[in-house]
Amino acid sequence: MHKDLNPAAAPAATPSKGTLSASLDAYWMPFTASRQFKNAPRLLARAKDMHYWTPEGRQVLDAVAGLWCVNAGHARPKIVAAIAAQAAEMDFAPPFNMAHPKAFELAEKLVAIAPKGLDKVFYTNSGSEAVDTALKMAIAYHRARGEGQRTRLIGRERGYHGVNFGGISVGGIAGNRKSFGTMVGGVDHLRNTHDLARNAFSRGVPEHGAELADDLERIVALHDASTIAAVIVEPVAGSTGVLLPPKGYLERLRAICDKHGILLIFDEVITGFGRLGSPFAATHFNVTPDLMTVAKGISNGCVPMGAVFAKAAIHDVFMTGPEHMIEFPHGYTYSAHPLACAAALATLETYADEGLLTRGAKMAPAFEHAVHSLRELPHVIDIRNIGLVGAIELESIPGSPGKRAFDIFRECFERGVLIRTTGDIIALSPPLIVEESHIDQAISTIADVLKTA
Ligand SMILES: Cc1ncc(COP(=O)(O)O)c(C=O)c1O
Repeated sequence: MHKDLNPAAAPAATPSKGTLSASLDAYWMPFTASRQFKNAPRLLARAKDMHYWTPEGRQVLDAVAGLWCVNAGHARPKIVAAIAAQAAEMDFAPPFNMAHPKAFELAEKLVAIAPKGLDKVFYTNSGSEAVDTALKMAIAYHRARGEGQRTRLIGRERGYHGVNFGGISVGGIAGNRKSFGTMVGGVDHLRNTHDLARNAFSRGVPEHGAELADDLERIVALHDASTIAAVIVEPVAGSTGVLLPPKGYLERLRAICDKHGILLIFDEVITGFGRLGSPFAATHFNVTPDLMTVAKGISNGCVPMGAVFAKAAIHDVFMTGPEHMIEFPHGYTYSAHPLACAAALATLETYADEGLLTRGAKMAPAFEHAVHSLRELPHVIDIRNIGLVGAIELESIPGSPGKRAFDIFRECFERGVLIRTTGDIIALSPPLIVEESHIDQAISTIADVLKTA
């Protein structure tokens, strides 16, 4: 068993609060079926390594790394200590025209593990902010080099790039258009790569669909390359149900971007920091984007943080004009927040100490075998996996899309396993410290629940 993972070694499971003293009314919850939740709340009070505990002291296996972010597991000692020490030493430092040493130290360490060529780091506080930052960088880059007409942004259907206006515009989620209407203008979308007819039950990247990258040529023909600033994709789409890139797809997308002078942005908010068994998806697929967004695993989810990696050639284009002038007028009050930098430095140390950025590759065969064992169970129409990400797609209940998976999510929680669902897809992304016994527990719980669903 991985050191530090013995639940018995965790603090005693005494409930911190048996019942909730506050009313549930005031908190307007994010991405939540609020009325259902408030009728039957699911609360978490404590976490250690692979587990959560409810306020009543019930242990729950975390099969989703919190929300794809707690890659090193919960409450890891070095990270906890680093955050506490930083809070005492210096709580905040203004990031505009000022800085603190850890911001530089972290950037240097991030660049050292990043795909070769991504030599600059810009800090944000979330994935959504990283995405909007990258989109602005792409547009401003073209302007700075005299191609100001390159303003068009290309995303992909079923892409998820967070919740800010840039991100939902390049994102390809129909519900966002339904709820929020107007998006940022000048955006078009590639077709998504999900093809159940040809690729169902693929193990790892699917065989069919590299030609879907040629959809970019269709868009270029329609709008003209001279109007397009950037293409943004998740190398593996996570939040819309773990949609994998067909073999050769990302390479082809890279080649078409190069041909037309279009920047390629990889949104690695989920795939970054070891999720696929390599430090980044770009490393995994050996395709280097021009800009790369990250968040979540950068700080193990412990303090909010995101970042954009950029090629030096992009950064350098901005470095002109009078030296007292700001070159890129963008940033957040909490960019490079000292607590986030301290947490991220300790996170990187923990990843390095335990080989976590590549551990997913070692665990992937057992994980793949386990998720695919669910194939014959009721309602299962596809299973897919890569590294330590897996998805089980279910047939929807006619007229009630999403209900089957949501009911399974609730039942698994009752049975002590936290999973994640999106539509009728169950997604699994355990912390990278996961052991086979945890995988077995998660899969057998899902199997038992599926049998009764
Ligand atoms: C690919 C991708 N981009 C952006 C985001 C948004 O990140 P955040 O929720 O930190 O704003 C997410 C969140 O899941 C994501 O998966």
